[in-house]
Amino acid sequence: MENIRIIRTNSPKQKPDEKALGFGAIFTDHMFVMDYDIEDGWHNPRVEPYGPFAVEPSMMVFHYGQAIFEGMKAYRNKNGDPVVFRPLNGIARLNRSAERLCIPQVDEKLVWQGLKTLLDIDKDWIPTAEGTALYIRPLIISMDCSLGVRPSHTYRFFIILSPVGAYYAEGIKPVKIYVTDEYVRAVKGGMGFAKTAGNYAASLYAAEKAKEKGYTQVLWLDGCQHKYVEEVGTMNIFFKIDDTLVTPTLEVGSILGGITRDSVVTMAEHMGYKVEERLISIDEVYEAHKQGRLKEVFGTGTAAVISPVGVMCWDDNVIEINNNEMGEFSKLIYNKITGIQRGTEEDIFGWVKNIYE
Ligand code: COI
Repeated sequence: MENIRIIRTNSPKQKPDEKALGFGAIFTDHMFVMDYDIEDGWHNPRVEPYGPFAVEPSMMVFHYGQAIFEGMKAYRNKNGDPVVFRPLNGIARLNRSAERLCIPQVDEKLVWQGLKTLLDIDKDWIPTAEGTALYIRPLIISMDCSLGVRPSHTYRFFIILSPVGAYYAEGIKPVKIYVTDEYVRAVKGGMGFAKTAGNYAASLYAAEKAKEKGYTQVLWLDGCQHKYVEEVGTMNIFFKIDDTLVTPTLEVGSILGGITRDSVVTMAEHMGYKVEERLISIDEVYEAHKQGRLKEVFGTGTAAVISPVGVMCWDDNVIEINNNEMGEFSKLIYNKITGIQRGTEEDIFGWVKNIYE
């Protein structure tokens, strides 16, 4: 495996107050970087001081959006060692996104090695206060300077780190979501399953409209019939109908296969709950609410972890879920997953990787 060069900063920054962390506004002292070209493949892996890159206005990523990213979190375990939640799943997903965007595959072992090296250097940035973590953002962008529409021949991969608190201002209090049947995020055959910048750009307009109406996020419906529930964009969605957990199927290909989503499905099944990954229409959700069977709604994501949904609005029809309070199951699963991440619950699925092992 290639040697990872290390260039340390001469001017380490002051660490933030852990109790006042928002999401993704502060960056650590270092970043991991490597480059790609056709002759050498991925090369020159290095950890260097966090800082600006030299870029040209003609770089393809600015024009055609060939960019993919990931999100993971690091914590400290009981012994104080840095641990990462399901990093290999995140790196594997990066390669699935890369394939869809015509970006060359990365060596997953080298990326994990690079991340471990970076975390070792910046480990003092891992916050330990309740609800905090060190958010890990790997990214690949196209670097060719050209205006022709084609896959780039050069790329840069980098990982930056950000100490974070809760993703939503609400913390783990229920959020309000607006169901849009006017705009769509992704369609079958599109890029919905990939973690690519364009999917997030596509979400902004409807999200701003929802914010104007007092809602935190948008719930997307399928792009063809505007009927089936897809995801929230920053998280996947679960409905607890009676005692069954229902979450939209990934089979259509327009939804991101969330790692927290997968963790919740696995943990819930292990706890004896019935979980259905299937098409679920927004009519079915509203009908279940009318019948008093919609017990809980919550989102899952690396950034958001578990985020209860207290209010939904679809077609001017506003419903309140579980009296706008976090439900029993949401609380249970939140405690279990954060317990596994922080090492206070047994990691029976082997999801937590110590960077020193
Ligand atoms: C994550 O949960 O890691 C995400 O990437 C969602 C969002 C912050 C873009």
